[in-house]
Amino acid sequence: MIVNPSTDQPTQLTATGANAITSAIIHIQRMRRSHIGEVMDIDAECYPTPWQQDIYEAELRNSNNRYYLIARAAPTPHSNTHSSALHSAGSRSSKVTSGKTHKRSKNIVGYAGVAFETTTAHITTLTVAPRWQNHGVGTRLLLALLIATRPRNAGVTLEVGINNPAAQALYRRFGLAPVGIRKGYYKEMGFTEAGLSPDAMVMRADNIQQPDYAKRLTSIAQQLAPDQTTELDLK
Ligand SMILES: CC(C)(COP(=O)(O)OP(=O)(O)OC[C@H]1O[C@@H](n2cnc3c(N)ncnc32)[C@H](O)[C@@H]1OP(=O)(O)O)[C@@H](O)C(=O)NCCC(=O)NCCS
Repeated sequence: MIVNPSTDQPTQLTATGANAITSAIIHIQRMRRSHIGEVMDIDAECYPTPWQQDIYEAELRNSNNRYYLIARAAPTPHSNTHSSALHSAGSRSSKVTSGKTHKRSKNIVGYAGVAFETTTAHITTLTVAPRWQNHGVGTRLLLALLIATRPRNAGVTLEVGINNPAAQALYRRFGLAPVGIRKGYYKEMGFTEAGLSPDAMVMRADNIQQPDYAKRLTSIAQQLAPDQTTELDLK
């Protein structure tokens, strides 16, 4: 499904931007258990202490209160989206195990998750594979995450490394403002050993159900690169 963030109705997201990758289709869909391996590969590239498989499995089992998305940069035969653009781009590699053919697409380029709470949703992760960073994938994932969050929670919060200006800039663009510092938040996650500050900035937006916030999302969507297409399959 392709959704307009201002109305939550199906439509197409396109617009302008400087970081285009020619003719890319960014397909965003719910994370499934079968995606965890690829997600963990990206985790390992991006964080000193990646989440383990059991954490992802527990998050995905809690589907009433958790919402995880992946972004693919290319089509896959497993896609639930019946887009001619997707299907015309061909099939992916396959791997043979125990006499059965398992298709492993290897085209996940980012993922994001949110925990719905009583009042304020908590973004638990937003990660883009290094080779795809700064090409609008994080923006697309965050747009999709917030589209899904708006009906559930009036506000959204997250922690971000105090020395992570790229992520902070992205969140500010989405209206999240700094509200405090959590000292040592990443202490148990190997940040200090990796030469990174273990302190986190807490950021929050309290107005995401307001019409003005929908306008903000629409404006962000409209600034995305025109030669990339975003397909959202948020079921
Ligand atoms: C932070 C992250 C998710 C952003 O995703 P992305 O796909 O690279 O971001 P986008 O291409 O959509 O860019 C969105 C904005 O982020 C900022 N940004 C992205 N890459 C940047 C970089 N290398 N330097 C500075 N700002 C950057 C910019 O403000 C950019 O907006 P602009 O294009 O208008 O300048 C991604 O860089 C990432 O996964 N980093 C490692 C993991 C991480 O830190 N996650 C956040 C945990 S809280």
